[in-house]
Formats: sequence, C-alpha cells, structure tokens
Amino acid sequence: MPALNIAVIGGDGIGPEVTAAALEVIEAAGVTVNPTIFDLGAARYLRDGEVLSESTLAELRTFDAILLGAIGPAIGDTRIPGGTLERGLLLKLRFDLDLYINHRPFHGQPGSIAEGCDFVVVRENTEGSYAGEGGVLRFGTEHEIATQGSVNTRFGVERCVRYAFELAKSRTRKHLTLVHKTNVLTYSGSLWQRTVDAVRLDYPEVSVDYNHVDAACIYLVEQPQRYDVVVTDNLFGDILTDLAGAVSGGVGFASSANLNPDRTSPSMFEPVHGAAHDIEGKGIANPTATISSATLMLRFLGEETAAERIDAAIAADSSEHAGVPRKTTEVTRSIIERLV
Ligand code: IPM
Ligand code: MN
Repeated sequence: MPALNIAVIGGDGIGPEVTAAALEVIEAAGVTVNPTIFDLGAARYLRDGEVLSESTLAELRTFDAILLGAIGPAIGDTRIPGGTLERGLLLKLRFDLDLYINHRPFHGQPGSIAEGCDFVVVRENTEGSYAGEGGVLRFGTEHEIATQGSVNTRFGVERCVRYAFELAKSRTRKHLTLVHKTNVLTYSGSLWQRTVDAVRLDYPEVSVDYNHVDAACIYLVEQPQRYDVVVTDNLFGDILTDLAGAVSGGVGFASSANLNPDRTSPSMFEPVHGAAHDIEGKGIANPTATISSATLMLRFLGEETAAERIDAAIAADSSEHAGVPRKTTEVTRSIIERLV
C-alpha cells in the first residue's frame, strides 16, 4: 500500500497529545503514514484570527483522511465568542466536506454498565438543529426573539437511514432502533419515521424498533444490551453518544468517524471527547479513543488487517488495565506491545 496522506488537526487542549499517540500506533502496526500537521483551533485563532480559511479547506480536501484531536476553548475563556470554533471549524468541516454520517461505535468496557455490549450510534451529521437555521430580532432588548430551527430533508434523512440499515444488515444481530421524539416533534419525527418505514422494505432481514429519546436514555443505562444499531438526528445523536460513552466505560474510549460514504471528499476521524484543557500538557490524557478512531480511519481506507490488529491490542490493553489511571505514553506503549 502507498503511504496514506493524513491531515492531522491536533487542535486544542489534549488534542495534539492524543493524535500524536494515534500516529505512533498506526506506524507501529506497519502502515506508512505521511502526516501533515494543520495548526488550527483556539491557539491559532487567538494568534492570527484564522478559524478555517477557504484555502486551508481546499488544501484539506486533497488528503486521504483527516485525523482530529479536539476543538474548543477552555470553559470560561471569554476571548473567543461561543460557537466561533465549533461552528467555524468543526461543523464547517462536517458540512462543507459533506460528512453526513457520524458513526460512533461503543464497546462496553470491563466493569462498565454496558460491559460486553457492542452497538453503534449512527448520528445524522449535516442537518437538524445544527444546520444553523434561525436568527435573532431586537438583540439585547426586552423584546429579543431568538429562533433556532431544525432542518430535516427527505434526502438527508434517507441517506443516513440507508447507511444505518446497510450497517445493521452487515452485523450479527441485524437490529436497528430509530431514536427520536415523534410524540412531540411531529413534523420532523414523522419524516424520520416514514423514511425508516419506507427504507426497511429494502432490508427485510433487519428487525426495526423505535424508542423516544428520553426512554432511550433510561434504556442506555438500564438495558444497553437492547441496542445494535441506533439511528438518530444530529442533536439527539450528540447527547446520546455522550451518555453511551459514559455507560461504556467513559468517553476516553469512545471513537467516531465523520464519514462521506460516497468518497467525494476526505472523511474525518476524531474521539467523542473534548479538549479537556484541565489536563492539557500533564501527559495523562487517555489516547484510546483517538487510537480507536484511527482504526476506523484505517478500515475506511482499506487497511483492514492493521485495523483489526490495533483493535485487538486496544481490547487486550483495556481489559488488563480497566479503571487504572495511566500516562498517555504508558497506554500507547502498552497498545504497541500488544500488537501481534
Ligand atoms: C461532538 C461535539 C461537537 C458536537 C461540538 C464540539 C460542536 O460535542 O462531536 O459530539 O456538538 O457535535
Ligand atoms: Mn458531543
């Protein structure tokens, strides 16, 4: 295989520490990577005002994939207005590169609530409440009005639902759960439900269930084993995947893939966790979620064998060291030592 050209956006807080660890593990698994580091995120913005220019975006488009650590200023840092980096960098990448699937797998760690469970949340990644629909009138006055809508298109919902059915079909249990709030969000909920009802006709081997999102929060804690593939909208998916990470052993293990399944642009791989500025530079960030995200990247780029070897090493490492706080370098070395 030729070297993989990977754009690396370490970003903020512990981001650069965990992306560096992931690159080390990929190389140790024998995959040649040609990484190009992009200095983007809070520090860059504070230095010269760039969030993500059109020319940087055009350059990013030329890579095989993007590996991202974490984006976001420290809580309480008032120098960067809320949303500047989230909307201007992370969401801009998801939207402009049309990364319409956010694929988030969960493997319940030993000792966690979801121990032994294995499920994937397929989160729609380009629409819903994240679309930026809405605005403000009479800002700062007593009569201020703020609206923030949710955009759901048949096209956007259907391509996400189809991806989820294909995934469910490829898995042992072949089970799909739509999560929404159709009893209250009747317009968008109906569109999601009708789309699932139509697409399922093409997948007779997949069993289908529906949960309201509030009930899904209870089930994730009390009966996580009921899930195989969950499909849901952008905001519900955001919230559910933090909860799913917590019940599976902590977001230190939760990986994600922002995918353009049509391969018209590079896909982006990142841990579910954030920048964790409180532990930045201490060398104690758990790199497992990013290393796991890197295996999603390798799989997507056709490096199946290396991905399997790294996943097996991650599983061996985490079952041996469940719940023990370790240094970033210790975890990285332990995973590399367990590569067979
Ligand atoms: C995530 C994050 C992002 C999101 C933030 C940082 C914009 O929470 O990837 O889940 O809300 O999607
Ligand atoms: Mn989130």
